[in-house]
Amino acid sequence: MVGSALVRRLRQAGHANILTADRQALDLLDQKVVADFLGREKPEYAVDAAAKVGGIKANDELSADFIYENLTIQNNIIHSAYISGVKKLLFLGSSCIYPRDCPQPIKEEYLLTGPLEKTNEAYALAKIAGIMLCRMYRKQHGCDFISAMPTNLYGPNDNYHPEHSHVIPGLIRRFHEAKINKAPEVVCWGSGSPRREFLHVADLADACYYLLQNYSGAEQINVGSGADLTVKELAGIVAKTVGYAGGILWDTARPDGAQRKLLDVSKLTAMGWTYKIDLETGLRQTYQDFLDNKNIRE
Ligand SMILES: NC(=O)c1ccc[n+]([C@@H]2O[C@H](COP(=O)([O-])OP(=O)(O)OC[C@H]3O[C@@H](n4cnc5c(N)ncnc54)[C@H](OP(=O)(O)O)[C@@H]3O)[C@@H](O)[C@H]2O)c1
Repeated sequence: MVGSALVRRLRQAGHANILTADRQALDLLDQKVVADFLGREKPEYAVDAAAKVGGIKANDELSADFIYENLTIQNNIIHSAYISGVKKLLFLGSSCIYPRDCPQPIKEEYLLTGPLEKTNEAYALAKIAGIMLCRMYRKQHGCDFISAMPTNLYGPNDNYHPEHSHVIPGLIRRFHEAKINKAPEVVCWGSGSPRREFLHVADLADACYYLLQNYSGAEQINVGSGADLTVKELAGIVAKTVGYAGGILWDTARPDGAQRKLLDVSKLTAMGWTYKIDLETGLRQTYQDFLDNKNIRE
């Protein structure tokens, strides 16, 4: 999702020399393959938009895969970027890196000030290690490697797996299927009470492009909209967007995750960047993309 949005943003800005590689062409878990690729291609700029990504269930059930694959992918990319002389690298983390109970909105300086949320601990630990890799390669080798921490993302090319997706694609799929099947009610996971922040992936791609041009520092930078809503409120908006008019039940046996995760985006705002796509507009576009895309990703 992020990789394709970045390519669209870079093309829009007139960049023609964009190098991408999918898993078949470049297995990022293979150190030698990554070293050979970066050594051969010698890109000037690099963005690590590859990771093992998933919702609360996937994170919890596949925690060994989440920590191993994410650590390995970022180790391979960041070290080989240094060896091959990449001029600037952007590492993408996530808002889950911050302590579960930290004050809201979450400032960058709260990193490593308390225990993590258990349901995504493996993913968060790997991402924290990625931030530290960028910082240490900057400190020891002078590499201009930066990190951005996006909030929850949504948009074209999302993953609509029935169990392993994030909340927005999960709700879109459930409500869409309920509408088609004329189901009287839909069961959603958790209590609906946690508050979450969302950003359209096109806005994230724009922020990444902005940071690559305007930021060179060790500290990770939060990227979000600065506003949140409850999962229940979100479900209401998604149901309306999809055109599902039935009931919504909440399965409280499913975990909620952290109660609130709102990023403080004042650093990025002070640098001159703010998001443009509001949630209602972004959801309408995303649902249209879901409908247009016959082979939705799972
Ligand atoms: N989605 C969000 O809400 C969100 C929020 C905050 C941060 N982020 C971060 O943003 C970045 C991109 O996430 P995304 O949502 O775009 O996820 P995504 O759509 O799942 O994209 C991740 C990409 O990484 C590739 N990949 C994974 N393992 C690989 C390997 N061993 N070799 C080569 N490619 C591999 C995947 O390939 P396959 O398709 O072949 O698996 C996929 O194309 C990640 O770092 C993620 O942590 C995402």
